[in-house]
Amino acid sequence: MTVKRVGIVGSGIMGSGIAEVAAKAGIEVVLRSRAQSTADAMVAGLEKSLAKQVERGKLEAADRDTVLARVRAVTDLGELAECDLVLESIVEDLAAKKHLFTELDRICADHAILATNTSTLPVIELAMETGRPDRVCGVHFFNPAPMMALVEIVRAITSSDETIADATAFATTCGKNAVLVKDQAGFIVNALLFPYLNNAAKLFDAGVATRDDIDAAMKGGCNFPMGPLELLDLVGLDTSLAILEALYEEFKDPNYAPAPVLRRMVSAERLGRKSRVGFYDYRK
Ligand SMILES: NC(=O)c1ccc[n+]([C@@H]2O[C@H](COP(=O)([O-])OP(=O)(O)OC[C@H]3O[C@@H](n4cnc5c(N)ncnc54)[C@H](O)[C@@H]3O)[C@@H](O)[C@H]2O)c1
Repeated sequence: MTVKRVGIVGSGIMGSGIAEVAAKAGIEVVLRSRAQSTADAMVAGLEKSLAKQVERGKLEAADRDTVLARVRAVTDLGELAECDLVLESIVEDLAAKKHLFTELDRICADHAILATNTSTLPVIELAMETGRPDRVCGVHFFNPAPMMALVEIVRAITSSDETIADATAFATTCGKNAVLVKDQAGFIVNALLFPYLNNAAKLFDAGVATRDDIDAAMKGGCNFPMGPLELLDLVGLDTSLAILEALYEEFKDPNYAPAPVLRRMVSAERLGRKSRVGFYDYRK
């Protein structure tokens, strides 16, 4: 099956980015947000992003209009009925995602793949909420989706070969390099990345070095493009905390036990770039 129309649920950091990637790849996009104001803001954000690309000579003006015309922002889940693949990218919360999968299973066409962009949660638990566990898998994009080359295709123990092949072809059409990974918390990238990010937050909390020196050390000493505290701000501290909790739940490895400072910052609504304050202040 070729994915001609994709549904994306959730218009946060990731949902908006994936909508842009799919629309630029020639795929019709139905983006579902709970509120019309968020749906409209997402389209406005996409217009802005494409306008910048035209300004920089990276996109023709005519192509910008074609890409925009492919995206429809809706609030009614029922609008996803005709999609070949629906990728949910809502909050990293198992109960919320399970509820959504039950709804999607009821609404979506029998042939449709129901996919999750979860960073760490068990894909099998979402698959078992549906009457089509063979048509469920993970399609894990990275942040920012338009820039990052990788997609992890996550195979639940119920995912069929056909589902994995169709999801991989979708990622490839989106211009991404797909890797296949089994359904285990953190998959490849976050299982390796998050102990590092978590330990950076612990170093900061212990006052071993300043925020700027921790970030400067990893950029200068390891040639990383971003420091760990900058990267936590980019991912979102709420999402990072949820990722660490899911990893800890799965492995009970102390390296995954969330740094207390992360929990405190989330309680204080310092979520990183999305709330305009985190380890860094983006309000200026
Ligand atoms: N942030 C990252 O770097 C990153 C990278 C890869 C994957 N992910 C995954 O993508 C998903 C979304 O993350 P994000 O960073 O875009 O988060 P975000 O906080 O930017 O957006 C989450 C969206 O979910 C919506 N939402 C919240 N509760 C909901 C509910 N009960 N039903 C429907 N919608 C609901 C919010 O309104 C918001 O639009 C998560 O599963 C996350 O693990 C995140």
